[in-house]
Amino acid sequence: MESVILFFRLYNEYLVLGILVVFGLIEFITGHLSNSKRSTGDYIQEFFSFFLLSVVTKPVIVVLVVYLGNILFPYGNTLLNAMPFYFQLPLFLLVDDVMQYWYHRSAHEYLFLWKLHRAHHASTEMGLLVSYRNAALYYVLMPNIWWLALFTFWGAGSAVVVGLVLKQLVIIGSHSTTKWDQWLYRSAWLSPLAWVVERTIVTPAFHFAHHGVSQVDEISEPNGNFGNMFAFWDILFGSAYFTRQYPEKFGIQTDTHDAWYTQMFFPVLKSENRNSPLSSEFNVTDTKVDAPTIVDLAQGNYLWCRCGFSKTQPFCDGCHHGTKHKPLLFKLDKQQKCTLCNCKRTKNAPFCDGAHKWPEEVGS
Ligand code: FES
Repeated sequence: MESVILFFRLYNEYLVLGILVVFGLIEFITGHLSNSKRSTGDYIQEFFSFFLLSVVTKPVIVVLVVYLGNILFPYGNTLLNAMPFYFQLPLFLLVDDVMQYWYHRSAHEYLFLWKLHRAHHASTEMGLLVSYRNAALYYVLMPNIWWLALFTFWGAGSAVVVGLVLKQLVIIGSHSTTKWDQWLYRSAWLSPLAWVVERTIVTPAFHFAHHGVSQVDEISEPNGNFGNMFAFWDILFGSAYFTRQYPEKFGIQTDTHDAWYTQMFFPVLKSENRNSPLSSEFNVTDTKVDAPTIVDLAQGNYLWCRCGFSKTQPFCDGCHHGTKHKPLLFKLDKQQKCTLCNCKRTKNAPFCDGAHKWPEEVGS
């Protein structure tokens, strides 16, 4: 065990780079990289974000915490020395991952954090390069990085090193177009194994669904599947969605295509496009009205806006990102005339139940 830990400690950076190279080679050989529609700005942002995180943000936070820890709590640096490695590792990973689950979920439910995380979802393709695509400030505020620094200070650096390699393996694997999990879904006899695997670690199918544009395809769930290494947090906290399929469209419903440097350095740099959430003039406006929309709809799937901010009422346009609201998916088996609620008080969503008239009736 000691020699394995030493190996991880000595070759930590090489192991993470090795994971990237292996997945990168597979993406290259399978043609994903050569067929990519990524712009130059996408490449710059993805490489720069990875560089900033690995070479600046993470090392600076670790050095800072260890330095301050030694001054303020000089006896703290041996706190975990007596704990066996096989306790340190799960403790480190479980605390790390549950914190990242809630940080990631908050980045979808609170507007300021969503603006920092938006770049990650602006990519219209999956691939290992998407893994570290976020605003620089997103990583500075990420509790995990402070947690790993603290764990290192407490004397459990080996668990951090091994844990990080394992975690990067799952995270890069869940973004990569290698879709390593697809072979698990091919035969019925592997299904029980797939059931266990997909409920334990985050698989590409599980995470691709999170990057899909909207639930209309019945595969995507951009408002769920927030797990990073372990999928069981989503089950525990009610945000899991399993399909064993992969969406065809990725990205944000109404993307404003901000420059890579704006996405990278928001809020220091702001977008000049006033419709962009990264603009200083951006406002979420209430678009609810006390009157239903009567519309003739073809057979198909639709998303009804629940948040009341959509500019395309009564349908969702993605403005709910950065709030706790989620749109409602409804299906029509045939063409029909629908009376859709716009006041968002209906108890028969998405259809109007007359709730918009109630205040009038009460007042009369
Ligand atoms: S815009 Fe999506 S729920 Fe309102």
